[in-house]
Amino acid sequence: MEKRGHLEEGTARRTGPIILLGPPGAGKGTQAKRIVEEYGVPQISTGDLLRSHVKNATALGRLASEFMGRGDLVPDELLYDIVAERLRAPDCERGFVLDGFPRTAAQAGWLDAFLQHEFFENSRSPKCLPFVIRIDVDYNELWLRLTGRRTCPLCGRIYNIHLQPPRVDELCDIDGSQLVTRNDDRDEVIRERLLAYEQQTRPVAEYYEEKGRLVSVDGSLPVDQVARQIFQAIETHAGDRC
Ligand code: AP5
Repeated sequence: MEKRGHLEEGTARRTGPIILLGPPGAGKGTQAKRIVEEYGVPQISTGDLLRSHVKNATALGRLASEFMGRGDLVPDELLYDIVAERLRAPDCERGFVLDGFPRTAAQAGWLDAFLQHEFFENSRSPKCLPFVIRIDVDYNELWLRLTGRRTCPLCGRIYNIHLQPPRVDELCDIDGSQLVTRNDDRDEVIRERLLAYEQQTRPVAEYYEEKGRLVSVDGSLPVDQVARQIFQAIETHAGDRC
């Protein structure tokens, strides 16, 4: 049975739109899955959406793979249609967790305008602007996390061979699948991804900070403790606004 934290089906609260912001390896994907378990709202990861397009060799996937393979951000315009389509799905009504979007100031402006137009003006839920949780982690730790990351191709669970190893080497604890290493978790690509974060994504935090819609959590703590800080931030700031 799907784990739903302390919230039973039917009594789950609205979280509204939540954005997880942070450098590559900060734990956005790991914590997004915790929010899904706790609040029953969907995770929308633009990295996962793009990787699925690459795997299926769609036109978007063929364009995106060139940028992703280098560690560069994919051009903004290639993201808008896939994000818009996903946000229009009915399961987003109580809220959703965006993991990896927005990543540029232009994407942040697009998202606010999209929500304003599609949701507020068309009487659809959720009717509030996103609340942003930035996960802070220092660069030495990020390096260890990215080089040690392994993912289950079947259930999506994320491991780390240094920090959170599976019970049996390279096999998923849940379904026994052979774990895989992401194509962009190579030293030279990691360097470029961290640079892209510094140059293009840091201004996104400033955009939300100026609007009073951002809190930071200490992402260097163990996963459960980071999750507790995030749930606390959601309880304090997020759901009641919508
Ligand atoms: P994306 O898939 O979004 O990658 P990313 O932002 O680089 O983030 P990661 O997935 O690497 O890290 P994470 O923060 O999710 O950490 P995780 O939980 O896995 O994007 C990939 C590419 O797609 C981009 O480079 C770009 O090209 C393109 N793209 C995507 N969105 C885009 C957009 N909006 N615009 C343009 N281009 C876009 O954890 C990492 C590791 O640490 C794991 O091994 C985990 O087990 C471990 N770990 C996590 N938390 C802890 C903890 N508290 N303690 C110890 N270990 C931990």
